[in-house]
Amino acid sequence: MSKKEKIMVKIEDLKVTFYNKAKKTHNTVIRNTGFELYEKEVLAIIGESGSGKSVITSTLIGLLSNAAVIEEGRVIVDGIDVTKFDESDWEESELRGRVISQVFQNPMTALNPTMKIGLQLIEGALINFRSASKKDAKQDAINLMLRVGITNANQVMKLYPHQLSGGMRQRVCIAVALLCQPKIIIFDEPTTALDPTIQAEILELIREIKDVFNVSIIFISHDLGVVGSIADRIAIMYAGKIIEYGKSKEVLYNSKHPYTWGLIQSMPDVNLGQKLYSIPGSVPSNFNNIIGDAFVTRNEYALDIDFVAHPPFFKISNTHFVASWLYDSRAIKINVPDIIKKRHHQFKKQH
Ligand SMILES: Nc1ncnc2c1ncn2[C@@H]1O[C@H](COP(=O)(O)OP(=O)(O)OP(=O)(O)O)[C@@H](O)[C@H]1O
Ligand SMILES: [Mg+2]
Repeated sequence: MSKKEKIMVKIEDLKVTFYNKAKKTHNTVIRNTGFELYEKEVLAIIGESGSGKSVITSTLIGLLSNAAVIEEGRVIVDGIDVTKFDESDWEESELRGRVISQVFQNPMTALNPTMKIGLQLIEGALINFRSASKKDAKQDAINLMLRVGITNANQVMKLYPHQLSGGMRQRVCIAVALLCQPKIIIFDEPTTALDPTIQAEILELIREIKDVFNVSIIFISHDLGVVGSIADRIAIMYAGKIIEYGKSKEVLYNSKHPYTWGLIQSMPDVNLGQKLYSIPGSVPSNFNNIIGDAFVTRNEYALDIDFVAHPPFFKISNTHFVASWLYDSRAIKINVPDIIKKRHHQFKKQH
C-alpha cells in the first residue's frame, strides 16, 4: 500500500482444525494463512470448492462451527481481537450486525421463511435501535429496500421469502445486512445461485453499496471472471492457504502462480471457442499431512523443492505477492504459457 490505509480486518497466521470426536479424527482446513482488508476496498477471495474460503471468513463474524478450533494465529475485526471470543463475547461485543455482517450464497438461510419480509426488516430496524418507533422503522425499511433496488417496496413488504424471485430475495438479504450500517460486509458467493443477468444486477448493486454506504467488502467467489469488475484486490486460496494476492489488475493481467493460471484457463470464454479446460486432479480431501506445496501434484511446473518445502511469499511488486518457488532467484526462469498471456491481454481489454 502506498499510503497508510486503515485496516478493517486482519487475519494473521491462522490455523483452524475440525475435530470429529466420534470418529476421533481431525482435519486442519486453514493452514497458517491470513489477509488484510483495507477500509472501503473490495477484497475478493477466490478458490475452488473446499479451499477454506467460508471457514476463514466465518472466523470474522463468530460463525465458526463448534467442531472447529482456532489453534494458532489471530483474528482482528475493526481493531478488536476476536480470536478467543465465545458466543457470549460475540453477543456482548455487538460487533455482529453493527460492525460486520454477512450475505450468504443461499438467501433462504438468512431469511425467516415464516415471517413476511416487511416484519423481518422492521423488527431488525427496531432491535438495532436505529429506528425510534415502529412507524420510523417501517419508513427506514422501505427506504432501505428502495436503496437496494426494490422499487415496489410496499408490496414486497407483505410477501413471504418464498414468494420472491432469487434475485429479489438476495436484494432483501443485502438490505438486512445493511440494517445496522455495518463497516464491513462479507458476501459469500452471493450470486452463485442466480441467473447470469440477475448476477450482473446484484454485482452492480454491490458496487453501488460500496460507494453509497462506505463499507469495506470481502467478496467470495469460485469465479475469477466475476470479480474483475468489482474487486480492488484479489486473494487466491488453495487448500487452506492464500497463495497469491495483489491488486486486481496485478492478479488478472500478470498472474504468477500456476494455480491462478489454471483458474484463468478454466474460465468459460466463448471468444476462444475451445474445449473448457479444467485443472487436472482435485483439491486434497484432507489437508493434515501436506508436505511442501499443496498444489505440487497438480502443478506441471513443479520443482523438486515443492515436494519438501512450502514456498514463502515472493514479492512481485509492493502490492503483489506469490507463494511459488518458481519466483525464487535460484529457480530456472519459465515462460508464461501463451494461452495465459492471451487471457491477460483479454482482461486488459475488458476492463
Ligand atoms: N462443519 C464442518 N465440519 C467439518 N469440516 C468442515 C465443516 N465446515 C467445513 N469443513 C471443511 O473445511 C474445508 C473448507 O471448507 P469451506 O466451506 O471453507 O470451503 P469453501 O472454499 O467455502 O468451499 P465452497 O466454494 O464449496 O463454499 C472443507 O474440506 C470442508 O469439508
Ligand atoms: Mg464456501
